[in-house]
Amino acid sequence: MYKREIIDKLRRMRSEDQSYTDGRILSSVSTKPLNVAIKAYEIFSDTNALDTHVFRSVERLERDIIEWFGKLLKNRKTAGYITTGGTEANIVALFVAKKTYPKKREILVPESAHYSIQRAADLLGLRIKYVPLDRDFRVDVSEIENRINKDTLAIVATAGTSALGVVDPIEEINELCGNIFFHVDAAFGGFVIPFLDSKLRIDFSIENMDSITIDPHKMGLAPIPSGAILFRDKSYLDKLKTSPTYLPSQPFTLSGSRSGGAIAATWATINYLGMDGYRRIVKRCMENTRFLCRELRKMDVNILVEPELNVVGIRPRNLERVWTLLRGRGWNILMDTHSKSLRVVVMPHVTEKVIGEFVRDLREIIQLCL
Ligand SMILES: Cc1ncc(COP(=O)(O)O)c(C=O)c1O
Repeated sequence: MYKREIIDKLRRMRSEDQSYTDGRILSSVSTKPLNVAIKAYEIFSDTNALDTHVFRSVERLERDIIEWFGKLLKNRKTAGYITTGGTEANIVALFVAKKTYPKKREILVPESAHYSIQRAADLLGLRIKYVPLDRDFRVDVSEIENRINKDTLAIVATAGTSALGVVDPIEEINELCGNIFFHVDAAFGGFVIPFLDSKLRIDFSIENMDSITIDPHKMGLAPIPSGAILFRDKSYLDKLKTSPTYLPSQPFTLSGSRSGGAIAATWATINYLGMDGYRRIVKRCMENTRFLCRELRKMDVNILVEPELNVVGIRPRNLERVWTLLRGRGWNILMDTHSKSLRVVVMPHVTEKVIGEFVRDLREIIQLCL
């Protein structure tokens, strides 16, 4: 095929999908990356972060990113690396947990945890004890306490659940840890909570928190693939070090070759936006979230939990029928089968205008379903 043909074909194929700029993608945790990040990706597209002996610049960029996270998480000693996403980050966290407590096998996990925790447990030969949620869909801390025993290796909490954006009571869980590994999955909330005017905390001032997953490719607005696994200090990563005979370095990452392009794009995004940029974006997303909630209340539509983050779980009457009709009008919205709710993630591309149009359609559909 000629270059022109290839590009035309790819453009045609891509145009068959929806795009974030249409504004109709309501349940995604991704969004359109910034141009500066795409450019950065291009410049570094031939680099491999594994080959630090060749690409020292990538190593420096990654070190900068981890330092930036250190500021965000109020701990200069923060150590970690850029993963392919939240799934890999969660697997690595539990891998380190297992290395920390090699004789123990059980992990306590909220029923609302992301499925990657189950994947990690399967891979690592760990046993999950699921912990039920309270009425607000947060993990019930007393139920965690009841399940702790001498075989408990780790406790997992989520800061921004996949279905409803709920934040588990992290500070209360912290009290139970000490000799138990404590991992917080803030894949979604990690780029939201630090920029909110609220009491929520997910930084290393939570003294028993050992590790945290934060995904730049979600609310960090970086292009996929970019997750981050962050530990309290370097000693955690040392537990994963290997010494391949054919390499001059001692890799601690789960994957071997890693995209230097993704690291450069993440570096470009966080430096372009800076803490103030993220604060502005989060403020706008939260204003839009509140706007959506006000409009839903006017229609008497049930909102499952008062959103602390930019996620709204809605349960109209005739849920399935309403959902079908919304999709018929081009709204890409998903249903969570556990909480029986439609999930709107108010990402930056879900603007006030989009919400206005969505609410108008929803109102008409609800009338039709009466
Ligand atoms: C809370 C949470 N953790 C982990 C993940 C997994 O992230 P990824 O798809 O980047 O692997 C997700 C994905 O939505 C998530 O919501």
